[in-house]
Amino acid sequence: MRKPTPEDKFSFGLWTVGWTGTDPFGTSTRPALDPWEYSDKLAELGAWGITFHDNDVYPFDAPVDVAKGRVAQLRDAAAKAGLVIEMVTTNTFSHPCFKDGGLTANDRSVRRFGLRKVLNAVDIAAESGATTFVMWGGREGAEYDSSKDLYAALDRYKEGLDTVAGYIKSQGYDLRIGLEPKPNEPRGDIFLPSIGHALGLIAELEHGDIVGLNPETGHEQMANLNYTHGLAQALHAKKLFHIDLNGQKGLKYDQDLCFGHGDLLSAFFTVDLLVNGFPSDPEGSRYTGPIHFDYKPSRTEGMQGIWDSAKANMETYLMLAEKARAFRADPAVRQLMTDNGIFDSAVPTLAAGESVADFLAADEPFDADAAGAREYRFVELYQAAMRHLVG
Ligand code: GCO
Ligand code: MN
Ligand code: MN
Ligand code: MN
Repeated sequence: MRKPTPEDKFSFGLWTVGWTGTDPFGTSTRPALDPWEYSDKLAELGAWGITFHDNDVYPFDAPVDVAKGRVAQLRDAAAKAGLVIEMVTTNTFSHPCFKDGGLTANDRSVRRFGLRKVLNAVDIAAESGATTFVMWGGREGAEYDSSKDLYAALDRYKEGLDTVAGYIKSQGYDLRIGLEPKPNEPRGDIFLPSIGHALGLIAELEHGDIVGLNPETGHEQMANLNYTHGLAQALHAKKLFHIDLNGQKGLKYDQDLCFGHGDLLSAFFTVDLLVNGFPSDPEGSRYTGPIHFDYKPSRTEGMQGIWDSAKANMETYLMLAEKARAFRADPAVRQLMTDNGIFDSAVPTLAAGESVADFLAADEPFDADAAGAREYRFVELYQAAMRHLVG
């Protein structure tokens, strides 16, 4: 397998390779390096970019000059390593003050503090040259339905998002917001639990034109949803601004495994969509953003395991990309796609210029029994994918 190159646009969150293994049942199993100590190795492995939360770089209570100094040091290290800072996000979940949320907390003083923290991170994002600003509302939610005025909470979410998006516009920043849905964890129920929920709220925003999605593989799968279908709907809505690829094995806690280490076939079709586009390949329907990994090196791993796992994400993506390209280029697959009727689905149901009245008046024969007896051969096409993948 060829080595990843910057053209592959692979990027990593500093909180991924930098995770020290702390979980609800145990303390760290690895030392924390300084944030700028990850750049050289990531670049050496073939990564193109890095991403971070404000507090991946400086502590929550850092004085302004310390915070600025640490961000500058990270920017220097990234530039020296040839890495792009492509996305920045805010930690509105670790400090106890955010235990009931940042933008939707019942406590208005928390919301005002949270919003300032987010706007400050927006400035850092713009100054760092990032083009995406992710908002993962991990603490926006509840354990108890009795604890919230849900209508008001959604109003506050909307207010917060519009304030951030409006600020980005007023500053003239070249930034778009990527909302990251998740159904639960750390809250019992998180607001905007899926891609579809987020698209619904975005449609209500005043500044929704610069607000889209940053869907994470495992988060959709934790809700028993199909990640590739979710990406497709976000692309259809022109809202797929960024992606968080990782692995998840079914309905469990958020595993944040390496990409492909969960549902491999699903990962294959995710990559198929990302590298080949939809079969009809409509103009503007391709994802062209970073291939961003948001995973956690398992806490059984040491420093070697951090780099093994970082490499594994990129290697698996490249292996799947090669297989997916060969799959689509295979004439037998092309024939099966035709037999499946996939290309027919791109033909509009009504003819060009056909009115509903003409349509209803048309005396069009239809053989229901023949249609009911049609062979689609969906299984054989899926098996052809299997042959390419593991044959
Ligand atoms: C998770 C989330 C987080 C966010 C990240 C960006 O796994 O629950 O993905 O990792 O992506 O914190 O804010
Ligand atoms: Mn996750
Ligand atoms: Mn994520
Ligand atoms: Mn994550």
